[in-house]
Amino acid sequence: MNDVSALAEYLLNFSLPADESRRMAQSPLKKTRVEILTVDGIALDCYINEYWTARQRQSSSIQEISYRACFKPQLPRFFIRLLTKPGDIVYDPFAGRGTTPIEAAIMGREVAANDINPLSKILTEPRLAPPTPEEVDIRLASLTSDPSLKNEIDLSMFYHPQTEMELLTLRRYLQEERNTGREDRVDRWIRMVATNRLTGHSKGFFSVYTLPPNQAVSPESQVKINRRLNQFPEYRDVKQLIVKKTRQLLRRITNSERNNLLRASEKALFLENDAAATGAITSDSISLTVTSPPFLDIVRYARDNWLRCWFNCLNISDIENKITVTRTLEEWERKMAAVFRELYRITRPGGWVAFEVGEVRKGRIELEKSVLPLGLQCGFEAAGILINDQRFTKTSNIWGVANNRSGTNSNRIVLFRKPPAS
Ligand SMILES: C[S@@+](CC[C@H](N)C(=O)[O-])C[C@H]1O[C@@H](n2cnc3c(N)ncnc32)[C@H](O)[C@@H]1O
Repeated sequence: MNDVSALAEYLLNFSLPADESRRMAQSPLKKTRVEILTVDGIALDCYINEYWTARQRQSSSIQEISYRACFKPQLPRFFIRLLTKPGDIVYDPFAGRGTTPIEAAIMGREVAANDINPLSKILTEPRLAPPTPEEVDIRLASLTSDPSLKNEIDLSMFYHPQTEMELLTLRRYLQEERNTGREDRVDRWIRMVATNRLTGHSKGFFSVYTLPPNQAVSPESQVKINRRLNQFPEYRDVKQLIVKKTRQLLRRITNSERNNLLRASEKALFLENDAAATGAITSDSISLTVTSPPFLDIVRYARDNWLRCWFNCLNISDIENKITVTRTLEEWERKMAAVFRELYRITRPGGWVAFEVGEVRKGRIELEKSVLPLGLQCGFEAAGILINDQRFTKTSNIWGVANNRSGTNSNRIVLFRKPPAS
């Protein structure tokens, strides 16, 4: 896509390309609806359609890692396919579970990722160089549980004593491998899978029935949950569950996708900086940024991940102090202004930024209205706002109560382009 007007034309007359329509198996397309957003006297077109479907089966199995406020892989895929070509560098300054870099790597692009929370790299990097289930199995078989290990905190409300001992053994092994520089891609993969299996609501997790690991409840709350559900932690075989999840993550990945991932892993850049200070990224180098920022004070990325931090020996207070939590819109805008200045520096002339803003405070705060002037002030051209309007039917089962909901869900993405060099 060469310029802003070509993009507008595409969004307006949207139809799925043949290869994607097979992959997405999407319902018949609606006609694009256009609404005008006016901010400070500047009018911008909003293009509304179901540009991608959120059905999980339509994305790669290797993306099936839980993380608070993550977006679906279909979102970055849409922009990567449209706005980049193989070999271009795709970046996310707030990478989270790594949805953008993983999708970009699968599609043969180079990747750069940043997130101030070290968990992001732990969850993302190993998936660029996946081992086989057999390699994982052999590595785990070499570990012998050590009954003398003592935990510094009481996790008996989550784990059967035998499971906890296996987890402590694995945690110590991984820490030793890391501290002595012996850690390899198989260790990193095992760490990533275990971090993702710590707590959850099925027998595929190490814990008794509880919330997923990205929203781990406190030990006190878990005691209450156990009492209410009259449940006790049963034994879960840590090694077996890691191998099982490995197979699941790799079940829908082709040889060419695996090769693309490996190629991207050789040059991938992972940073743990503030998104406004990423000096290690060369100026004018990034072809496309696809990102969603922390939204005001809605998600507590560190606290909700406390068990993941424990397993990875990370200091939760250190992380909490660094993560951006803004209580007012003015504070958020100041922070994002600095991020936009940095994005302008690193974007190549003619490159793009797709900045997703979620629904905040039940739609009462429309962050796109804040984002538009921030981008323009730095020198970006505004290319429009894309609203992916999708219908969904969701069945969730919370505390044993079936909850069938259907409705609509929307992603709102403000699109910018850095003007090409004249
Ligand atoms: C909305 S989430 C991104 C989720 C991501 N799109 C995904 O699919 O997983 C925002 C992320 O910003 C990170 N974060 C918060 N403050 C930051 C900062 N100042 N610099 C860099 N990352 C930050 C959080 O740790 C969190 O992972």
